Amino acid sequence: MTNFQFHTTLLLLCVSSCVYLDILPVETESILIRPYYVYKNLIKGVHDYFNNTCIILFHGSSKLIEDEGLQEMDGLLTLQTQFSKYLHIRTVIMDFHMFKNRVEKTYHHIKRPLFVLLNDFKEIREQFVSVSKWITMAYPTWLLFLRDETRFEEFLSDVYVPFDCVFMVAQRDSQGTEIIQDVYRIGKEDYLRSMMFGMWNSSHGFQGPLLGLYQRRHDLHGHNIRVVAINLHQPLLQIDKS
Ligand SMILES: *[C@@H]1O[C@H](CO)[C@@H](O)[C@H](O)[C@H]1NC(C)=O
Ligand SMILES: *[C@@H]1O[C@H](CO)[C@@H](O)[C@H](O)[C@H]1NC(C)=O
Repeated sequence: MTNFQFHTTLLLLCVSSCVYLDILPVETESILIRPYYVYKNLIKGVHDYFNNTCIILFHGSSKLIEDEGLQEMDGLLTLQTQFSKYLHIRTVIMDFHMFKNRVEKTYHHIKRPLFVLLNDFKEIREQFVSVSKWITMAYPTWLLFLRDETRFEEFLSDVYVPFDCVFMVAQRDSQGTEIIQDVYRIGKEDYLRSMMFGMWNSSHGFQGPLLGLYQRRHDLHGHNIRVVAINLHQPLLQIDKS
């Protein structure tokens, strides 16, 4: 290779990587906002913690069927195969439109389902807000993946996550560890509260809380329990606080 050829090659490499970088912002609009292994291992960790019997992966895009979405669909199917075939966890992929049309009346037949929102885009948010109005929020366990710049308060500003609901949000910290918080409201008008639920990273795997739901929420927001205990008719908590 002559010097000239070498430089031309370098230049070409540079140009192509610049073009590549240029395309990146579009690529990040991909349905999957985390690498597979993060989705797979984090979801698996949560699944094992709650002993869910099935997983629904919500992607929130109604455009998937059109050809521009084929590659995306590939990615989703890979994820589903990982769970169904290799981990033997029943897993389906859908968006909330399909969920409403096909599953609305029967979702109670699924025992202890884990509902995963794979991203936090506008489209999935809008669909989810409307689903949250009719679904029994506390029936499934929820897990939402957030991009670094999204605030969960914003994503959930129009959603009532009741006190007895397990709704987890996962977001990366600067080290790449996924920080999992669970969020809820004491009442419809209450602000969104959050607590540290656990963490995941590739070196340590998944770590969840040692205490159960009510123990944890009781510990930090003790004086609120009275309100909730009356709602839930939990005599133990009532005696404790009233
Ligand atoms: C997990 O679920 C299975 C099937 O429903 C059940 O048999 C098992 O006892 C559960 N395990 C735990 C630890 O809750
Ligand atoms: C990975 O997670 C563990 C907790 O499970 C944490 O102690 C550790 O610092 C994390 N590692 C990195 C590189 O952030």
